[in-house]
Amino acid sequence: MSSYQVMRATWEASFEEQVARHAYNTAPVEALVRNASYYLRDRDEGQDLSRLHFGELGCGAGPNLVWLAEKGIEVSGVDIAPTALELCRRNLDQTGHAGRLRDLVEASVADVPLPDASFDGLFESCVFQHLNREDRRRAFAEVARLLKPGGLFVGYMLDAGHSIYERAQSEEVADDPGTLILEDGSSNIHLSNIGLAHFFRAEEFEELLPGFSVVDPCLTTYYLPRHEARKRGYDQYLQSMWAVYAIK
Ligand SMILES: C[S@@+](CC[C@H](N)C(=O)[O-])C[C@H]1O[C@@H](n2cnc3c(N)ncnc32)[C@H](O)[C@@H]1O
Repeated sequence: MSSYQVMRATWEASFEEQVARHAYNTAPVEALVRNASYYLRDRDEGQDLSRLHFGELGCGAGPNLVWLAEKGIEVSGVDIAPTALELCRRNLDQTGHAGRLRDLVEASVADVPLPDASFDGLFESCVFQHLNREDRRRAFAEVARLLKPGGLFVGYMLDAGHSIYERAQSEEVADDPGTLILEDGSSNIHLSNIGLAHFFRAEEFEELLPGFSVVDPCLTTYYLPRHEARKRGYDQYLQSMWAVYAIK
């Protein structure tokens, strides 16, 4: 199997399990909402947002696209898992936003079959962190290619202060610092079972987004409630994530 087929099979299995357990994300991600809100207020106060086109790379069931569509913004989604795309389409339909959908594309975020400068804004949440080094570079290069000048990128991804990384960093991939291969085969839902996870450091973002006028990674960390940590097999679980705000 090619690496695309492996990723597709992994995420399709994960999504099927998430659907069966009613465990997939249905809420807009706060870091995306807050950063996009500031950007839109600054750029478009009082103006008609329907002329803007935003996309999400790895859109899952589409809660972030629904949030954008509610504002009147035209949206497109890219995902590697057909089940996620089906859910995303249904979600936009059921919330009355089918008319705001431009494209739903089954593809890897590392190679998106859409034209240059298609987007005023792009979201990414918990997707780039699961790419190997080469695909990670290609995915960030796709962000740069797909955005119009002045366009917004907001990404939400793992930080090296995360408790999973702190516990397992001795096992990181030799030629890719920050990357762990986490697999215990019991479930496709939790981070520790999806396979590759990359834990970013602040300085990586400037390198991955060369030529951007703003690259502003903001760290968000919080402890999961003890009972939730225990469900995942930990006494303490520090969720540490970057909210990256960048302007092309
Ligand atoms: C953790 S989920 C997050 C979904 C969504 N961003 C959210 O915030 O609800 C990761 C999503 O990225 C998709 N994905 C993973 N690797 C991908 C890749 N290489 N290309 C495109 N989509 C990918 C998965 O199928 C899944 O829908």
